[in-house]
Amino acid sequence: MSEDEQEFAKLEQTLPDSIKSSSSHIFNQEFLNSINHTPSLTPQSSIPPESPKLPKKTPLSNFKDELYKNGDVERTHSPIPTPGPLLHPDVHFPALNKQNAATGVIWCTDRANERGFPNPNWVNLGQGMPETGDIPGCFDRPKSMNISIESREYGPTSGIKPLRQAIANLYNEHYRQGKESKYTWENVNVAPGGRAALTRIAAVLGDAFLSFFLPDYTAYAEMLSLFKNFAPIPVPLYETDGYKIDLKIIKGELNRGVSAILTSNPRNPTGQSIGKDELKELHDLCRSKCLLIMDEFYSRYYYDGEEGEAISSASEVEDVNKDPVLIIDGLTKFFRLPGWRVSWIVGPKEYINALSSAGSYLDGGTNYPFQEAAIPFLDPTLVHNETIALQRHFKHKRDYCLDRLIKMGFHFNIKPNSTFYIWVDLSHLPGKLSNCLGFFHEALHEDVIVVPGIFFDLNPLSFRELSDSEMYSYIRISYGPELENLVKGMDRIESILRRFGALPENYDK
Ligand SMILES: Cc1ncc(COP(=O)(O)O)c(C=O)c1O
Repeated sequence: MSEDEQEFAKLEQTLPDSIKSSSSHIFNQEFLNSINHTPSLTPQSSIPPESPKLPKKTPLSNFKDELYKNGDVERTHSPIPTPGPLLHPDVHFPALNKQNAATGVIWCTDRANERGFPNPNWVNLGQGMPETGDIPGCFDRPKSMNISIESREYGPTSGIKPLRQAIANLYNEHYRQGKESKYTWENVNVAPGGRAALTRIAAVLGDAFLSFFLPDYTAYAEMLSLFKNFAPIPVPLYETDGYKIDLKIIKGELNRGVSAILTSNPRNPTGQSIGKDELKELHDLCRSKCLLIMDEFYSRYYYDGEEGEAISSASEVEDVNKDPVLIIDGLTKFFRLPGWRVSWIVGPKEYINALSSAGSYLDGGTNYPFQEAAIPFLDPTLVHNETIALQRHFKHKRDYCLDRLIKMGFHFNIKPNSTFYIWVDLSHLPGKLSNCLGFFHEALHEDVIVVPGIFFDLNPLSFRELSDSEMYSYIRISYGPELENLVKGMDRIESILRRFGALPENYDK
């Protein structure tokens, strides 16, 4: 039994409960016990018989055998991390919801912390934020700010009026030229960050089936499990279609009585966006029947249109006060100010009023001085110029990463056209590399963080066996970091593949 096998088994044991319990029937206890407690067993004799429950195409099931077969090409020596349990095993923590005590992303960071992250040698390709430094052509972010006397007081829970006005104006200028119905400040709810906006929305929904798609943004899992006022329905998207939201799927959802749909668009983690024509059809289908909750944090990280063009549902809304459409965005991604915690929801007044009450009992509203400081950023011309500069910069980084990955033998059915994420299929790789946890583990040894695909296979009610997930053979790579870090990250992925003999034959020619 090599150190490497033991170490990986330990890693698997520290997974959040919801994922561990569902993966354990594949990576079964017998197998873990054989690794942990029977060191005298030879590798061959410790492989348990295949469980009859195993789905055919589960990379994890192949992985067990491969782990041994590829022993000679794998890391022969690696320091064993000491991943502590998430909760103290001997202490009872009354009333703590263990299910939500550790999210997937936190788990990744915890494992990296155990190996010395953060330090300058690390490359965080798991990063859900864009680089926050200066980018050529982008406006200078303030380094200090005036704090007004008024901002000492509580602000309105829906946000301060001048900021709400500026946001409404931006949407009208960029997406609603020539349309009669326009947004006003009363159509805007300012919230303390994107996740707070999502929580506010979840709190105001009532008696509804809400469909969400797999894969999608990890935090939806917790948001959808906390509130019991609606029933979340997972809708799988298909690998063969590049995980596209097909309108046939939407029609099916409406037929079964779904009255709310939540999606990121452009989509995290696949880096794909619903096309402009399909977006129009989606709105036509849902108008007056179904609330569309459109999480548009990446709407300007969109590389398919003219330079400076973004994609937003705001251009498909007919009547701003009648179409049931809630659009979420904020300073986190486009303005590259995730630490400011300013976001907004744009939608019909009735929803906005309810969201204002939700803000009052959930979070108390958004930091007042930062709202004041954000107002000038919303100027439509400034935003347009910023979009051009941002798209040039990020498109270059996307193309760099894609070129390197393709050269290393990764396949992409469809080129990611938006966000700053690449959804990488590992299924052609040998041994543990074909499995997101195995790849994650090897990457940690190179001081690189990637996010295992299973964390995007949202399972808010833990009703499903995640072992059936095709996302075991995917990781998400972020090109949010600076180019120099991406270069390092790609070099290190290359060296992992080289060690496993997994680079294409003519790679070095
Ligand atoms: C799709 C999506 N929505 C919302 C957010 C959260 O934004 P915030 O950091 O403002 O809570 C993220 C962050 O990664 C995201 O990817």
